[in-house]
Amino acid sequence: MVSFYDVFMAPLERLGIRKRRQYILEKAYGETLEVGSGTGANLPYYNNDNISSVCVTDVKLSKHLKNKMDKDACIKEASATKLPYSDNHFDTIVHTLVFCSVDHKHIGMQELKRVLKDDGQILFIEHVLPKNPILRALFKLINPVWMLLSRDCTLTHDFIKTATENGFEVAEKNRFFLTSFIAGKLVKKANN
Ligand SMILES: C[S@@+](CC[C@H](N)C(=O)[O-])C[C@H]1O[C@@H](n2cnc3c(N)ncnc32)[C@H](O)[C@@H]1O
Repeated sequence: MVSFYDVFMAPLERLGIRKRRQYILEKAYGETLEVGSGTGANLPYYNNDNISSVCVTDVKLSKHLKNKMDKDACIKEASATKLPYSDNHFDTIVHTLVFCSVDHKHIGMQELKRVLKDDGQILFIEHVLPKNPILRALFKLINPVWMLLSRDCTLTHDFIKTATENGFEVAEKNRFFLTSFIAGKLVKKANN
């Protein structure tokens, strides 16, 4: 059965998110962790020639995700703020449209930093406040209602600020959908 989320997202996927998923995920390599996998929208885009394994996690595993995974696949119920992995474990961490909903965002970024190898990478897509002042004001205005409807997804989180305050630097970024979404790559800052 198709999930409500996938139906809701289908127009946005067609308009550009799918293309960005493909673009970031072709860079995934080595031991890979995906955080907040949802219904598994990223799964078709991993290049198995480059990755040695993918572990998918979510604070609440959906049956849609479980149905898409092999029986012996690495799939764990875990919050981004408390990951069941050792330090310096992963070459690549992926999160798409997740940090808007993570309740303790700084703890989440610190946790990603802990499990990421020093020369590893984070590949992400997140939504952010657009640059246009009228749109920004509109996003801030509708945010309380949106948070109620979406169960705690905030439209106002400054993801890049959270990442850079927690030991990452932006190696690549592209904004799209009137600058309200951002896709890119983070690496650890040196000596952090
Ligand atoms: C909007 S969905 C995005 C799903 C998928 N990543 C995608 O790109 O379609 C947000 C997902 O983040 C998960 N999530 C929310 N808070 C989380 C947390 N603290 N740790 C891990 N996942 C979380 C939710 O359960 C949900 O599956």
